[in-house]
Order: sequence, then structure tokens, then C-alpha cells
Amino acid sequence: MVRLSEEIRMKDSTYILVVDDEQGVLDSFSEVFSNEGYQVTKAKNWSEARRHIKTQQYNIIIADVKLPDVGCQEMIDDIKEENKYAYIITSAGFTDIDTAMKSLQHGAHDYMSKPFDPSDIVTTMRKIVDKQRLQADNLQLFDTIKVLALALDARDHYTHGHSRQVTEYAVDIAREMGLSFKEIDIIRDAGILHDIGKIGITDAILLKPGRLTEEEYAEIKKHPVIGKKILEPVNCLADKIPLIYHHHERIDGQGYPEGLKGDDIPLGARILSVADAYQAMTSDRPYRKALPALIAIEELKRFKGRQFDPNIVDAFLRVLKRMGMDKTADNSSESPAA
Ligand SMILES: [Fe+2]
Repeated sequence: MVRLSEEIRMKDSTYILVVDDEQGVLDSFSEVFSNEGYQVTKAKNWSEARRHIKTQQYNIIIADVKLPDVGCQEMIDDIKEENKYAYIITSAGFTDIDTAMKSLQHGAHDYMSKPFDPSDIVTTMRKIVDKQRLQADNLQLFDTIKVLALALDARDHYTHGHSRQVTEYAVDIAREMGLSFKEIDIIRDAGILHDIGKIGITDAILLKPGRLTEEEYAEIKKHPVIGKKILEPVNCLADKIPLIYHHHERIDGQGYPEGLKGDDIPLGARILSVADAYQAMTSDRPYRKALPALIAIEELKRFKGRQFDPNIVDAFLRVLKRMGMDKTADNSSESPAA
């Protein structure tokens, strides 16, 4: 969920959430941070913390890795879902320091060992806050662009939710393939923005209730190029643009805009391509009904090695199997579409 007003508010004050089941730890953090003028929220367990992150954007979240009511991965996933820009620090006693170190792989930014040295903590917090303020302008711009992308998605009921759904599938695939948290983050952002270039395509073509002519299809094919041009001036999007620009490449080199082949296509773009195709096939379009999941799955298999990277299709099939989609036959269709 994009909460622009919250981001703006975060620029003026620093909000810190501390989660620990030891009251003494909560109180000492609270004292140190309040003296620095930070807004501190304390939570004794994850269910309490979860309520806070749903209603407030925090600059920094310091959380014990061994809370009784949550695992480390789930805790970090929750934070990323609700407080995307929070700087996450896990904390641990000496015996759990391995878990805290592993939390970096799950997406935490840093870890601390207990007991804490207050002056060290204050220095660290000041550095983080300074860095976040520098990034805030870029993030606001990024969020504005995401709002535009979602607005583009929402303007007709055929594409409503397309980008969000593509993003969810792409992130599931990336996780299944064991990609790093950073790579998954890039895929998540690129997924939301992948079709932003369609803003430059006329509605008469985009929403046409029938087959496109060759000229019209050539127009549609410009959207990755337009997307790249729109996003290029935004510095913080540099690592997402290759995924957006190449999401219609095919591994046999027959895609667009560059006709790249195989591994020359960025991995994230190959993942988006599979997620995009499956979402498009299983949704109604002005010119056809949605395909049942089973048929869409057969199409992915059929185009494995030609349009799609086989490893990515296999990973997605495992994801869909876990979701039970390999048994779904809930709607009918006249003709498959790639
Ligand atoms: Fe596209």
C-alpha cells in the first residue's frame, strides 16, 4: 500500500518501533531515543507490533529475532509488506547471534547484539536518519510513479489489478528460485511499473474490443520503450528499468524491443514475462474470456524453451501446484493466447 502522506510526515520526525519481550530493553531504548527527540513506540510481542506497523510508517524498526509469537522470516516479511521503507535492525542475545546474522538474508538491514551500548546506538541511528532523509525525495517521486501505474491499471476493468497480480506471481517465482532479498525487491518494484509505458498508447488501441491490426500491434509494442523513457530520469529506478524494458523479450530472440536471447535477457525480466503471460491468459480481455488455470499452465509448458525460460516456468509450476491451481478448471474459453 502506498502511503505518500506518511512518507512526507516521516521526513520531519523520526519514528522508531522497538519490539522486545524484555521490558528492561524496551525501557532503555525508549529513554535513549526520546532524549534524541525521536518518536518511540514499544511493543512486547509481534502481534502488538503488527498492529503498529499497519497504522504507522516507521523510519527504523528494531526487533528481537527470538520473539515467542513469530519467526524471523515472517516478521521481516510483515515489515516489508506494511513498512516498506523502514530500516530493519534485528537484535539478539549472544546465543542467538547466528539467527540475527541470518536475518540479513531475509531482508534485515543490520543486526545488533545485546547488551547495547547507548552511545553506539545513538550514533548509528543518526547515520540512518541522515541517509533516509536524503533518500526521501527520491522515494516520494517513486511512490508518485507507482500511484500512476496503479491508476493506469485501474482505469478499465479488464486490466484492473493486472500489475499487482503480476508482481505477486513474479515475487513468488523469485522466492521459489531462491533469489536474494535485493533481487526480489527489484522485481517487486519493476512488476508494479512494468506496463507504465502504456500511458503513452492511445485508449482506442489499448482498449480495443477486438483483434489488433498489424499497425496497432506495432504501437502496443512501443510500451517498454516509452516506459524506459518515462522512468530514466528517476535515479532510484535505474536497477528496475532493465526489467521493465525487457519484459516482452522471448528466450528464442523473437521478442521485443531488442530481440535479446536466453541469458542475455535480465533474469528479472524473464520472470516478469512468465508472470505477465500467465496473468494475462487467466484474465478476461475485451476480445476473449479468461482461460482456465489448467489451460494457461499447458500454454506455459508449450512455450517453455521458446518464449519462456524453462527453469522459471518449472519454478512457477511448483508455486501454482502449492496454490492448488494445477487442479483448477473454473472457467471456459474459446482459444488460448500467448
Ligand atoms: Fe507489457
